[in-house]
Amino acid sequence: MTQWVYSDTVRDHFLNPRNVLRDENPEDFDAVGRTGNVKCGDEMVVYLKVDPEALTITDCKWQTYGCASAIASTSMLSEMVRGMTLDAAARITSKDILAALGGLPDNKVHCSVLGDKALRAAIDDYYRRHGMEDRIQTLGPRVVCHCLNVTEEDIEHAVLEGARSFEELQERTKIGTGCGECQEEAQRVLTSFIEKHFGL
Ligand code: FES
Repeated sequence: MTQWVYSDTVRDHFLNPRNVLRDENPEDFDAVGRTGNVKCGDEMVVYLKVDPEALTITDCKWQTYGCASAIASTSMLSEMVRGMTLDAAARITSKDILAALGGLPDNKVHCSVLGDKALRAAIDDYYRRHGMEDRIQTLGPRVVCHCLNVTEEDIEHAVLEGARSFEELQERTKIGTGCGECQEEAQRVLTSFIEKHFGL
């Protein structure tokens, strides 16, 4: 039976979310990253202010229509990235966030990737706005689903965590739940990682 057990840290960040964008003007920020699909009710937007000399994050705010787990995860993430360089922040994974939160129920883990993906999109946006496109290419692997910003690496992680069918992959990553155009390619990449890691 599913265990709906949230750590005290998750509850605290859900009930008292840090760094939510409220009165500030989004245009005062240096970069913005968006992920998710508002039709699914889980859109996430991350806003960054960046020290242009050190390329460190001086402020990270966010807004979401996401669930309690997405709220708690992004609240934690927004605290973790302050003072980090953009490159270091881009290397944060949903596993790092989960560790800081003391875990999430298995069926809510996928919600923790929303903030992480929106953050990476915001970092890419900063590089794009400042003529550093070469850094974007070094940050992440190929994007398979552009609506949900799901990469080959995300698919590989899902396989390593147990996804064996397209439905299981979708449950973990929400891949293909936007326009649907990526589904054939997603299935191909899924099969290749299952073969690579499990020889099936
Ligand atoms: S590209 Fe994946 S759902 Fe649109």
